[in-house]
Amino acid sequence: MKLPRQFFQPLAIGAPAPMRDLPVRLERMIHFVPPHMEKMRAKVPELAKTVDVVLGNLEDAIPVEAKEAARKGFIEMGQSVDFGPTGLWTRINALNSPWALDDITEIIGNIGNKLDVIMLPKVDGPWDIHYLDQLLAQLEARHKVAKPILIHAILETAQGVNNVEAIATASPRMHGMSLGPADLAASRAMKTTRVGGGHPEYKVLADAEGDTPRATSQQDLWHYTTAKMVDACAAASIKPFYGPFGDFSDAAACESQFRNSFLLGCVGAWTLHPSQIAIAKKVYAPDPAEVAFAKKIVESMPDGAGAVMIDGKMQDDATWKQAKVLIDLAKLVAAKDPEMGQRYGL
Ligand code: GLV
Ligand code: MG
Repeated sequence: MKLPRQFFQPLAIGAPAPMRDLPVRLERMIHFVPPHMEKMRAKVPELAKTVDVVLGNLEDAIPVEAKEAARKGFIEMGQSVDFGPTGLWTRINALNSPWALDDITEIIGNIGNKLDVIMLPKVDGPWDIHYLDQLLAQLEARHKVAKPILIHAILETAQGVNNVEAIATASPRMHGMSLGPADLAASRAMKTTRVGGGHPEYKVLADAEGDTPRATSQQDLWHYTTAKMVDACAAASIKPFYGPFGDFSDAAACESQFRNSFLLGCVGAWTLHPSQIAIAKKVYAPDPAEVAFAKKIVESMPDGAGAVMIDGKMQDDATWKQAKVLIDLAKLVAAKDPEMGQRYGL
């Protein structure tokens, strides 16, 4: 085990010191762009003003013959676009693929000072994070990168889920984690062909009562993994995200999947289609009525201790802390979105 005093030492001479705390940033959606397509790249300067994170995707969904064009396109995008406060991320190819090494070395060599986060797919255990951690430190030192590049793992293999706590705490570079329901379904031999969302056959059947038709209720296939990921991330002070929702024609199901993850503790989700951006903005910001109630709690318990009744409901130190979570998030949203700020009265 690495000793606590060494945990925050740079892993290469000349690399920037690891961050002790994550930057406070609103990351309601990680918007995926296929960077080999010039038409899509041309939209990025405008797109960057409407999303919290722009991610250049180099991995799955990019055809094998376009892998190098995607990498080049991403570098070109990083060099030419002013992202302002919007995050710039990339999803590199898996570490065992023929492209990962060049993805990492070329991107850090060219835009290491603009890149915020590398999303690493198919993470099985902390060893994957340690490898990337060391390599990034060497490249940061070589290319004089001033700010450490963070790592975001995709939780999408059965082994990764087994090792989720060790992954979350593998390095001070860990930014967070996203659930990858498509690869995870395959890895676990789940019987679904969907990218996230439910399945009509995954349900609970009510007991039989005479001849009345038995009610059924569809269950959430992703509840267990999302909850496990949220605990691992919250305990490590990093950020959990729901990943992709593949049925672009079903906005209601996408919203419901996103919302379940938000209520459980996730801070955002991937948006693969422009129509999902508005859904993520709506879901990953607290409801103004909840914020109003949270403000009442905080105002009636200014020092955060004791017990009061509000509208017949008991409030104490714990509900004060819950209220604080909502108010802090509302402030973050309000700082970026004045219209939401007005609705929150902030
Ligand atoms: C995302 O990468 C997934 O596999 O769902
Ligand atoms: Mg995947």
